[in-house]
Amino acid sequence: MTDVIDLRGDWAAPPTPAMRRAMAEAEVGDDNSHEDPTVIRLEERAAEILGKEAALFVPSGTMGNLVSILALTEYGTEIILGDRSHAYVYEVGSAAVIGGHPYRPVPNDRFGGLNPRDVESAIRPPNIHFPRTGLLMLENTHNLCGGTVLSVELTRQLCALAHAHGIPVHLDGSRIFNAAAALGVPAAELAQDADTVMFCLSKGLAVPVGSMVCGSAEVIERARQKRKLLGGAMRQAGVLAAAGLVALEQMIDRLPEDHATARYLAEGLALLPGFVVDLETVQTNIVFCTLEPPLSAEAVAAALRDAGIRCSVFGAQQIRFVTHYAITRAHIDRVLSALQQIVCELGGTRLAVGPNG
Ligand SMILES: Cc1ncc(COP(=O)(O)O)c(C=O)c1O
Repeated sequence: MTDVIDLRGDWAAPPTPAMRRAMAEAEVGDDNSHEDPTVIRLEERAAEILGKEAALFVPSGTMGNLVSILALTEYGTEIILGDRSHAYVYEVGSAAVIGGHPYRPVPNDRFGGLNPRDVESAIRPPNIHFPRTGLLMLENTHNLCGGTVLSVELTRQLCALAHAHGIPVHLDGSRIFNAAAALGVPAAELAQDADTVMFCLSKGLAVPVGSMVCGSAEVIERARQKRKLLGGAMRQAGVLAAAGLVALEQMIDRLPEDHATARYLAEGLALLPGFVVDLETVQTNIVFCTLEPPLSAEAVAAALRDAGIRCSVFGAQQIRFVTHYAITRAHIDRVLSALQQIVCELGGTRLAVGPNG
């Protein structure tokens, strides 16, 4: 169905016509031997934009996080990360399962930040009973906290703390350009103190496949071998990288439009009876919404699906919407009017005349 309004994720953004043309015409070679000229150009450009020496093209953000972890630290060391971070919650425990890295989660605050005191007290002192702390992981923007933004100052402070203890830092910057746009700073400033940064081409930048890992030439060389280990070394990947190059030139500067569309949606949702939106956490392109009984996430999502609208379900009472370049204000108007009807049907009169109504 082509007229479905897909707000499940920014990964639903289709490639642009310019990307499709670039993909069709891409010059290719064997990326496994690092000989694909388009991949090489993409890696050089990504490194330049993030202010790092080198970059590596990987098939997914999940693999990008894992190769970074494997490249930065030794087998058996512990990883400090947020208890709501994507790597901890949604990546199948890959660092523990594949890398032999136990997780040491510390609480994420409401905006996805970590308290430096919590991080410091999670760092292991030398003791025969303890694993060594091998890595600190940050996430910006923070997906599960609602696309919230980690400030340059907090990023610097947390990196300095880790480095003072000899611990490297990996930044899951899946949506780092959304964070940079929201803060009005270059992405390189957010990436500066992290040893490696992963960002996704396949989210708000609308590339069909691929993520980048950026870091020093030495770490990226190790990451390249880890990518091979995980089966992520590709062949004529220039066909995909060509879309990535278009994205880096054409899709970054327009991200504030997605943020404005998300804000418009969030403000509309907050007016619906039975819908609770924490507007302070709507900082980029993600909108979480808590539903009050008798509404439930499954029922609302199913009713939306019947109306040709897709959202994601997070537990019994939460749904998530993510905007991207293919979503316009007119789409959001359609979503809000569908929801008004759904609330009446599912919520009955109690909600329809509720306090938010
Ligand atoms: C913050 C964050 N990190 C990593 C990933 C993983 O990316 P991928 O789906 O490409 O594996 C995602 C995916 O949504 C994400 O939101």
